[in-house]
Amino acid sequence: MTASQPVCVGDVRRLAETAVPPEVWDFVEGGSGAELTLASNTPALESVAVVPRVLTGVSTSDTSGTLLGRPVAMPVAVAPMAYQRLLHPDGELAAARAAQDAGVPFILSTLSSCRIEEVTATGGTTWFQLYWLRDEELTSELVRRAERHGCSAIVLTVDAPILGHRLRDVRNGFTLPPGVRAVNLDAPDDEAHVPISGTSAVATHVAAIFCAELSWRHLARLREWTTLPLVVKGILDPRDARHAVDTGADAIVVSNHGGRQLDAAPPSVVALGPVIEEVGGACEVLLDSGVRGGTDVLRAIALGASGVLVGRPVLWGLAAAGEAGVRRVLSLIHAELSEAMTLAGCADLAATGELRTAEVRSCARHG
Ligand code: FNR
Repeated sequence: MTASQPVCVGDVRRLAETAVPPEVWDFVEGGSGAELTLASNTPALESVAVVPRVLTGVSTSDTSGTLLGRPVAMPVAVAPMAYQRLLHPDGELAAARAAQDAGVPFILSTLSSCRIEEVTATGGTTWFQLYWLRDEELTSELVRRAERHGCSAIVLTVDAPILGHRLRDVRNGFTLPPGVRAVNLDAPDDEAHVPISGTSAVATHVAAIFCAELSWRHLARLREWTTLPLVVKGILDPRDARHAVDTGADAIVVSNHGGRQLDAAPPSVVALGPVIEEVGGACEVLLDSGVRGGTDVLRAIALGASGVLVGRPVLWGLAAAGEAGVRRVLSLIHAELSEAMTLAGCADLAATGELRTAEVRSCARHG
């Protein structure tokens, strides 16, 4: 990325929108139902004010920390997102390289359009996101493959027994283009490519392959299958958080799947506090859904989260300029976080976690 360098994540989003076909943009941007949960995520984060400390003598801040016990340059991981070759021919490979460059983990989706082996060969930290499939043998083989090829955590997504009803995709009769497939499943996926008016082919495909009866027994089985750190993604209720910890989760992602699943779910930041209170440090608690910049990372850390996942902004970077675009997004977030920590008087993440927060009831948007 060079000419007219985007100076904020919003600039990257504007570039991305013109770079991809409208139905792909809708697939990325859309949520389920009336998109109320989707619409609530970022405003809810923005309503969290962080109270700065002064006269701390801090002129630069160290954003580095650990996630799942491993060093990271900032408390951020790239969220698992399906079919990234929809946005750029290099797909997940480009995003994984950019994540490595930024010093943060890349979470590879089960529905990745690049192979596990190729992505882990980039040499960065890769966590594998698991959708539990009806074919249990294939599910366990995916976990073994991820382990064999050096993935350092398994992330089980638990908020998608079925796919949320995404009206934009239904209206568009969305299908995957011929070159984009869930290549790691090594199975025919014709239904994902066949247009049927009034349906999303991706939803049809997912309905055919996902295990809709996912339960705590599956999590317990996964805990037996692997010794890798286990992350449970898509928890909003503190009782489920407790259960996940008791079943052996090493981390929880408080998430409403970017407003793509239950369209009555709360903004994830609203669910964060009770979850942190319940698990009381027994595991790491990450936040996603609506994170759009470094100040959102600051907010999450001040609220007690261990870190965040960045979702759509990474896809915007990918659409705008491939690997360079994702690098730009992650470096903008890093610079914003560092500057926000300094302005809040925090030398490091430990001090950031001690900041107070306040709720702002309404906030006007400028620019
Ligand atoms: C997702 N998300 C997702 N989650 C997951 O566990 N496995 C997946 O394959 C996908 N795929 C996916 C595709 C696209 C296009 C999007 C936008 C999202 C959800 C993702 O991991 C994360 O929870 C949300 O993206 C967070 O919301 P924001 O911050 O992107 O709005």
